[in-house]
Amino acid sequence: TEGFTVAIDGPAAAGKGTVSKAVAAHFGFAHLDTGLLYRAVGAKVLAGADPVDAARTLIPDDLENDSLRTPEVAQSASRVAVIAEVRAALVDFQRSFAARAGGAVLDGRDIGTVICPDAQVKLFVTASPEVRAQRRFAELSGKGIGDSYDRVLADVRARDARDMERAEAPLRPAADAHMIDTSTLTIDAAVAQAVALITKAR
Ligand code: C5P
Repeated sequence: TEGFTVAIDGPAAAGKGTVSKAVAAHFGFAHLDTGLLYRAVGAKVLAGADPVDAARTLIPDDLENDSLRTPEVAQSASRVAVIAEVRAALVDFQRSFAARAGGAVLDGRDIGTVICPDAQVKLFVTASPEVRAQRRFAELSGKGIGDSYDRVLADVRARDARDMERAEAPLRPAADAHMIDTSTLTIDAAVAQAVALITKAR
């Protein structure tokens, strides 16, 4: 039997990850951060691998790597994510995860539009580029990665442009997605909105 699937999409640093983890914990659903798949491929490409080979041979252990959270890997991820064969190689894993009994939350860019078009709940979590860059800047500073705010904002804009303008599975809200704009919401308020929407759909 098919499980209950929550699809959460949105641009970088909008709060998707935080909302997804909180929702998964609240309902006891499994959580997959699909950005990690593209980051793992991006990291292998930075180490010299062919992107399509890397995507086809990805194993779960590849996702457990702390070094996937760097700006260089994020940019490499968004470059490999435009390649149709890379995306195709990652579809089955994501769909099996979504169908697991007990419910699943997947967050990414194309979950509601391509990976799980029949998800019971679709959320599109967004915020202004400046707010997202400020959050990412604070997060990176906390980890001792010393990029300037301007550099982080430029990275956010470059990744937005690449993710939204690509031909294959571009970042956009599904027609039936609920929008959550976190520019002026606290984390708790954003999570409360998400939980309320999911509770209504269950
Ligand atoms: O979410 P995160 O910032 O970790 O994603 C890294 C990159 O992977 C994104 O900028 C995007 O290009 C790509 N991605 C994607 N589809 C997804 C998840 C991530 O294209 N479902």
